[in-house]
Amino acid sequence: MKYTLTVNGQSRTVDVAPETPMLWVLRDSLELAGTKYGCGHGVCGACTIHLNGEATKACMTPVSTVGRKKITTIEGLAPSPTKLHPVQQAWCELDVAQCGYCQAGQLMTAASLLKDTPKPTDEEIDGAMAGNICRCGTYTRIRAGIKRAAELASGAKEAGQ
Ligand code: FES
Ligand code: FES
Repeated sequence: MKYTLTVNGQSRTVDVAPETPMLWVLRDSLELAGTKYGCGHGVCGACTIHLNGEATKACMTPVSTVGRKKITTIEGLAPSPTKLHPVQQAWCELDVAQCGYCQAGQLMTAASLLKDTPKPTDEEIDGAMAGNICRCGTYTRIRAGIKRAAELASGAKEAGQ
């Protein structure tokens, strides 16, 4: 069945079974391999994308349920080719990633958190990030990265960017 999706601001048409999870639509049909496969059943968060800006697990999202919602993947998180999203900038500054496998999902969840909660507390960070597992244990740096991203975002806002 054909579906026309809005992915990272572009209209993309795929021909897949209705129950196909968005994870495989993105990776196999659209060759957007930044979204990672971890557990395949909604537990690890490696596959996190945004649907209309909200963090969503792509492995649990059949393509038939997406409709006209705007899909954003890690490839489309940066606002432009020359400018990183504040979470990406903070992650680089603080060298958050270790092996990196979970980090696309971590960044997508962190970006969604900051959109709704620009200055999150430790508890809010831990609550929002609880569905994203890191087998390398980078949780302390992830928390620091989110706080740094919040600073960068508020600085950019003050500077009118
Ligand atoms: S692969 Fe989707 S939550 Fe683990
Ligand atoms: S950085 Fe290795 S799994 Fe998170």
